[in-house]
Amino acid sequence: MAVLRISIIALTVLMLGWLAESRSDTNSVFSPCSDASIQRFDGFSFGIAFAARTSFFHNNTELSPCDSRLSLSSANSQLALFRPKVDEISLLTINTSNFYPDSYGGYMVAFAGRKYAARSPPAFVANSTYIVTSFTLVLEFKKGRLQNLYWKRDGCASCSDGTSFVCLNNQDCAIRTSSCKNRGGSVDCSLGLQLAFSGTDKHDSVFNSWYEVKSLRQYSLYGLYSNLRDSLTSQYNKFF
Ligand SMILES: *[C@@H]1O[C@H](CO)[C@@H](O)[C@H](O)[C@H]1NC(C)=O
Ligand SMILES: *[C@@H]1O[C@H](CO)[C@@H](O)[C@H](O)[C@H]1NC(C)=O
Ligand SMILES: *[C@@H]1O[C@H](CO)[C@@H](O)[C@H](O)[C@H]1NC(C)=O
Repeated sequence: MAVLRISIIALTVLMLGWLAESRSDTNSVFSPCSDASIQRFDGFSFGIAFAARTSFFHNNTELSPCDSRLSLSSANSQLALFRPKVDEISLLTINTSNFYPDSYGGYMVAFAGRKYAARSPPAFVANSTYIVTSFTLVLEFKKGRLQNLYWKRDGCASCSDGTSFVCLNNQDCAIRTSSCKNRGGSVDCSLGLQLAFSGTDKHDSVFNSWYEVKSLRQYSLYGLYSNLRDSLTSQYNKFF
């Protein structure tokens, strides 16, 4: 699988009342296709694969993109790798100025692990008409092992501006690709992924970030990232 040659900004913020802890990363597993057992504030590696929806299935079963039976490397696909800090709320961005998700099938799956082989359901990102730019990914752990990855949706609650946003399938707030930069429009259609960690680490400490994110609306974290404020949030200002 070709590794995405795009700039990826990984930022973390400390939420109100959180202590600025500078603990070191004790997780020596860097491959998203290996199993890691983590504790709070470790780094955790996972991947996101972009491909056609059908590319993620083998014999009607969704497999991890690490599984060679999918032959994703020979399919039209792209891979992005991330290593956020466990239990810090992070916003990952994928700059779309040179990367069009619709030219790689338009769907994405988040994945990590070998034996446990967690993978999210495929999420629609873009086709030639629409692009969804905001996602929340929940990473669910049990005793430090990743059990599950899933997308948290808030329906189209944040999708109130009828001029640039369109509600797709009552679930995704999408932008018309014709509004995007490089496609004739003025909106930066870079992808933003909020992360939330739920469950427990290998010492049975309970992760907090899920509780922080659960009550937030889809775009509410963007305002905390000053770097992205102009490019990503100015278009969403009406939500703050
Ligand atoms: C496909 O799935 C069916 C039903 O689960 C199973 O019987 C069959 O052996 C599978 N085929 C392959 C090639 O894995
Ligand atoms: C994406 O890259 C373009 C060109 O380098 C830049 O102008 C834009 O601000 C970037 N967007 C984000 C969200 O970082
Ligand atoms: C793009 O996706 C939307 C929502 O699923 C669908 O209604 C539309 O027909 C698709 N357009 C194309 C060109 O595939």
